[in-house]
Amino acid sequence: MTAIVDIKSLRKVYKGGFEALKGVDLQIEEGEILALLGPNGAGKTTLISTICGITDPTSGEVLVAGHNWRKAYRQARGLIGLVPQEINLEGFDRVINSVRFSRGLFGMKPDEAHIEKVLRQLSLWDKKDARIRELSGGMKRRVLIAKALSHEPRVLFLDEPTAGVDVALRKGMWDTVAELKANGVTIILTTHYIEEAEALADRVGVINGGELLLVEDKQRLMERMGRKQLTIELQEKIDSIPASLSEFDLELAPDGRSVTYSYDTRGERTGITKLLAGLSEAGIVLRDLKTSQSSLEDIFVGLVEGGTTPSKEGAA
Ligand SMILES: Nc1ncnc2c1ncn2[C@@H]1O[C@H](COP(=O)(O)OP(=O)(O)O)[C@@H](O)[C@H]1O
Ligand SMILES: [Mg+2]
Repeated sequence: MTAIVDIKSLRKVYKGGFEALKGVDLQIEEGEILALLGPNGAGKTTLISTICGITDPTSGEVLVAGHNWRKAYRQARGLIGLVPQEINLEGFDRVINSVRFSRGLFGMKPDEAHIEKVLRQLSLWDKKDARIRELSGGMKRRVLIAKALSHEPRVLFLDEPTAGVDVALRKGMWDTVAELKANGVTIILTTHYIEEAEALADRVGVINGGELLLVEDKQRLMERMGRKQLTIELQEKIDSIPASLSEFDLELAPDGRSVTYSYDTRGERTGITKLLAGLSEAGIVLRDLKTSQSSLEDIFVGLVEGGTTPSKEGAA
């Protein structure tokens, strides 16, 4: 895959001196859904609006399909659609006019077939002549998406598309996003719902305090999630793990009084029975057992609070 958006060392210091982005590097792959996960104030909106050219960066570069967005702003910006966090629609406008207007802003020739396609795709065709103020919150958000797609962008940025949206509507929005992806649109969305990242994303980026702490394939993150740890407290301290137990990759605590075994919860066998038998054969007596599981939430909380990846004992 090739990067459709290439973000290099993006920094933003707001007037007053607050550093909201501390040098973000990120490559967005064509066709993917990337979820940027972070708590309130992490810098998600700043990052997205800087990439989209709405906020000026203090330093750094963005290339969209190879176009430098300083030197070739129109080409770069034309490839991007942005659905802002706040709903900022003119209540008296009619849905279809509002979408046509957005297309015009990008200097695109009118194309009724495209407008119809977008409105149908977002289940708004039967509302095309309604005034925006007559629509429900979920529909208004879909109008924002329609406007953002009006000029046929290749990359769509959605800033917290489901913040404050009820659970049923959230699922509807997820379906919409999945359909857009199926239609070939690259999607970057921000969210503070871990569940949303889990449901939708191909890759997940974690942002906090203006820094991108991690960008990883969701599947790999899920595999980490699927891991559990069994901590075995020992009756007597040991100095090393017996060679006969090497296949279990045990980790010995520094005090020698416990060992930790990591296993995949989705595997058919956990290997625990075999491990316990092996310990007994090695003459090791157990005092207690504890299990813990790392989840995306743990990984996220660990990153956001500690600034480091939670290790084996992260969820103990
Ligand atoms: N125009 C601004 N001037 C000064 N500080 C700002 C401005 N906009 C945002 N910030 C600050 O930058 C940080 C990141 O904000 P934002 O990007 O909106 O975060 P998020 O979208 O992740 O909630 C916050 O601490 C916020 O208060
Ligand atoms: Mg925000």
